[in-house]
Amino acid sequence: LFGKEKRVASLNFTPIQPSKEDEVILPKGYKYDVIAAYGDVINNKGEKFGFNNDFTMYLPINGSNRHGLLWVNHEYSSEVFVSGPKKNGAFSQEQIKKILEVQGGSIIEIERDSEGVWKMNTDSKYARRIDGFTPFELRGPARGSEAVNGAKMAQGTFANCSGGRTPWNTVLSCEENFEETAADAGLDDTHYGWVVEIDPFDPNFQPRKHTALGRFNHENAAVGTTKDGRLVVYMGDDKKDAGVYKYISKDKYVESRGKENSKLLEEGTLYVADMKQGRWLPLTIEEVRKAADGNAELLEKFQTQADVCVHTHEAAMLIGGTPTDRPEDVEISPFDRSIFIAHTNNDRHGNIHGHVTRFIEKDNDLGSLEFHFEIFAAGGPQSGFSAPDNLSFDSDANLWTVTDISSGSLNKNVFTPFANNGVFVIPTVGEHAGEAYQFASAPVEAEMTGPWFTPDETTLFLSVQHPGEMTEDFHHPTSMWPHRAGDNMPRPAVIAITGFKYEF
Ligand code: FEO
Ligand code: CA
Ligand code: CA
Ligand code: CA
Repeated sequence: LFGKEKRVASLNFTPIQPSKEDEVILPKGYKYDVIAAYGDVINNKGEKFGFNNDFTMYLPINGSNRHGLLWVNHEYSSEVFVSGPKKNGAFSQEQIKKILEVQGGSIIEIERDSEGVWKMNTDSKYARRIDGFTPFELRGPARGSEAVNGAKMAQGTFANCSGGRTPWNTVLSCEENFEETAADAGLDDTHYGWVVEIDPFDPNFQPRKHTALGRFNHENAAVGTTKDGRLVVYMGDDKKDAGVYKYISKDKYVESRGKENSKLLEEGTLYVADMKQGRWLPLTIEEVRKAADGNAELLEKFQTQADVCVHTHEAAMLIGGTPTDRPEDVEISPFDRSIFIAHTNNDRHGNIHGHVTRFIEKDNDLGSLEFHFEIFAAGGPQSGFSAPDNLSFDSDANLWTVTDISSGSLNKNVFTPFANNGVFVIPTVGEHAGEAYQFASAPVEAEMTGPWFTPDETTLFLSVQHPGEMTEDFHHPTSMWPHRAGDNMPRPAVIAITGFKYEF
């Protein structure tokens, strides 16, 4: 694709070329608005937008495509731009407070004005922060168990990477690389690494952590239903040589029960993918103990279902789950219910550029325990993308794929052709299926995360995460995006991209 101009029939844009510019580059005819950036006040209480925004989810108000709430994950902090460095190997209490406050999530109210510009409404009655101090309730098998040291509540959420939407319109936010913050803050690490649930519209909805979905480096949560109406959640464990999971609820989803359906996330079965046999293996305590095969240490470790929920990766590998190349986002195709998984890369196996894997469930039933798979698209100089991360479908069966080549490796020769990270559109059906077309390029050392469309697909929300990430000296940042007049640092920010074909 490099150097070639190509137009895709179903896509109304001319792909852009890779760019090294410190700017968000879009195809001709598209524009972006910065909605909220790190440090911006979001409400009358003076709460501030957090750092390193990731997953975004738009929740319409009164069905509007121009007015709604935006949930935004905040994944991690920065010593250079937020807390300052450790002294004598540790952060002070004041620094820890900052580190916990800039993570979690933001609920902001946004509106598109008569000129077509998206803006945040800081007078909002909904806008609020969820952070590393917000009380969460543990739900499911591990609640109150020895495996979590008896806890029924946990302090806060952090390392919130990607997420998902439930059919009852709540947010699932995924705790990914929680280890560092938990250790720095002296918090019990068995309280993190969960999928958490929040209702942006209702501050009285108790934020909860769903232990039945397992504890690992959760990337996202893609929710669907089985042919017989039970809830399914697909999840990746974003770690080298880690598994792909799905959870199936015991009971069926009943629309009229509204938010009571949240209970479906408390009782069910968690499965890990065995890609050799094309089977989903149940992570029940019985199966795990059987696989322990008399090993005294393992039998001591795995005594209850709570132990399986807390030490999920170890249990999954024990029963025969397949280690894979860092599974990031998982999405369910709305067209044929096949499952797309971004395997971002794995230097342990020489998988430098990653690939997108596709699972086809038997009978196209998300409740099936058998599947086969194929490599749908491979990263590399030929395809034009490297390190696929978050995924999102549009209604033309195009898979919107963002890339995450780590800032530390961007200057390596093998990544030269890709320049900055970007957004790629990959058709999943038709003659161009599997081909990647670049739609956007990120500012210097940034990654675009959390793509989410309004229901009518006239706006695409995106997070611009960690611009200037390699900066060592605050006074000499490597990026200054979003280039606000008078500013002295780069700022992670959420943007709204408009100019799509359906808009007249
Ligand atoms: Fe936070 Fe796996 O990216
Ligand atoms: Ca990610
Ligand atoms: Ca990534
Ligand atoms: Ca990231």
